[in-house]
Parts: sequence; structure tokens; C-alpha cells
Amino acid sequence: MKLPVAELHIHLEGTLEPDVIDRLAKQNAVTLPWTSLEHLQEQYNFSNLQTFLDLYYTNLAVLRTRGDFHDVTIAYLRRAHASGVRHVELFFDPQAHLERGIELAEVIGGIRSGLREGEALFGITHQLIACFWRHAPAESAMEILRLMVEQQHEIDGIGLDSSELGYPPVLFQEVFAFAREHNLHVVAHAGEEGPPEYIIQALDLLKVERIDHGIRCLEDDALVQRLVTEQMPLTVCPLSNVRLRTVDTMADHPLKKMLERGLMVSIHSDDPAYFGGYLDANFEAVHQALGLNGSERATLARNSITSSFLDAEAKADLV
Ligand code: ADE
Ligand code: ZN
Repeated sequence: MKLPVAELHIHLEGTLEPDVIDRLAKQNAVTLPWTSLEHLQEQYNFSNLQTFLDLYYTNLAVLRTRGDFHDVTIAYLRRAHASGVRHVELFFDPQAHLERGIELAEVIGGIRSGLREGEALFGITHQLIACFWRHAPAESAMEILRLMVEQQHEIDGIGLDSSELGYPPVLFQEVFAFAREHNLHVVAHAGEEGPPEYIIQALDLLKVERIDHGIRCLEDDALVQRLVTEQMPLTVCPLSNVRLRTVDTMADHPLKKMLERGLMVSIHSDDPAYFGGYLDANFEAVHQALGLNGSERATLARNSITSSFLDAEAKADLV
């Protein structure tokens, strides 16, 4: 029997499978640098976060219409359902679409209608989180966030993603303060490639409710103690960490150590179409390499629900 889980670290644009990219490129007459599906498939070898992001930003250009956003959302939910996902907090990158001239209403409208249809089809509840690019100026994030609030686009929270090194959370302090003032949830990628100091800034300056990745916290004992005391959720993505070489092999993954230290960790899939699998594959890879026992697996699943933005009643229904 599958344990109920919440998927809290999943980028919609990272669910675009190569065959879908190939099909949408033809359908929407988008020219990509790849001459064939095989040529595209040869690109999935990454040496760090940036080499992955270069491919991911190139390929997402195939998303053009509200219908595309709707369809890829449903396709993701169908696959998530098969992994036992009961609730999803879905990330998307608004800047990646706005800079190509796609309107917010098309992007958010398409994703939202996909989420609603997915809830009716598969019973998966949802929230939607707009992630801002840390490699772009904070002014760009602020301008888009203001628009989202003024035009009442349906988002539940904001996040921070893209290239981490050299872009500390402090740059986005005002953006996050504005989001909190407007009752939006706040999360940020930190401590994926970046140092523990970035996690501390995300906590103290952005006042985030969850840290995405956070695996480099283990380099700072005082920070680990704090994260344990606060039971701050860390959304860890094992296959992503190995494929982006922040961890050498799955056998070296710190997940078990993090659990043993009492951190509020849960497992997620990040960009499953790029990293070799969805939530079930992440659980299986970790289990194979680290030999998690039944109680550890149950803790990871329960933590994902505890770490979600569902209300207490909905959480109780799931655990
Ligand atoms: N955008 C999509 N996946 C990401 C990741 N793993 N880190 C930072 N930004 C991302
Ligand atoms: Zn991510």
C-alpha cells in the first residue's frame, strides 16, 4: 500500500518529458537547438545546477498557450497520482514565461484549471507557488509580484529559485516582506549549492516557512540545532542532488543523517523529467542506497504532510 504523501518541491517546467518537448515544439512551431528527440535526449548530463538550468530554460520555450499549461499540469498530476501524491504545492517560474511574451493570465489560468481538473479526476488537492529567479534583479520580482497582487492572480505563495551561488537571499528581502504583508506563503531554495549562510539569511531576512533543499545545513552545527528546534521543513530532492552533483552518489546522500538528527525532512522530486524519476522513484532510490526502514519511510511521508500549507484538519485527514 502506498503511503499518502504531499509533493512540496516540484517545478511544473521540470515535468516536461523529452517526448512532450518534442511534440509541443512541433505543434507550436518553436525552434529548439535540438535536431531530433534523440539529440535532445543526449543533453541530459549535468555537471552542476547551471548546466541543468540552461537546458531547462531552453526547453520550456515550447509552452505557449493556456491549453499547454493546462495539459502539462494534468499530465503531471496523473503521474503524481500513481506515486501516491495526495496534495501538491506546485512551483512555476513566472519570469520564464513573461520574458517570452506569454501573459500571466494565460500561465496562471492554464495551471489553475489543470489543478482543478486534476483535483476532480485524482482527488489531489493543490496550492500554487510563483518562484522568482534569483539571477534576475529583485526589481523584476517585485514588479511581477505587485501585478499578481493587484490583478488578483490566484497564487498561494512565492519562492526563490534558479542559480544560487552569488545570489544571496538578502537581495530579495523587500519582495518577501511584500509577499508576507499580502498573506502569501513564503519558501526559498537555499543550501542546495549555496553555503549555510544562505539558509540563515532565508530564515532571518526572508522569514521563510520552508527551505527547499537545505542539505548544506549539515556544515553548520548551530544551524542544524536551530532547524531541529524550530522543526523548520526542508524539502530534500535526492535524485536531483545526485544528478546535479551536489552529492557524489546516492549512497553518500545525507538524508538518513538528517533524519537521525531530528530535522523535519521530506522527500520530493524537483524536476522529475530531468533527474530520472518522480516521487516514487526518489523514495525507491533512497531506499535502495540507504536502506530506510519502515518507520523512516513512514516518517518521511508524514513529514511531507506536516510540512505542507494544508490546514490542521486537512493534514489530520491525510496522516
Ligand atoms: N529551478 C528548477 N529546478 C531548480 C533547482 N533544483 N534549483 C534551483 N532552481 C531550480
Ligand atoms: Zn527546486
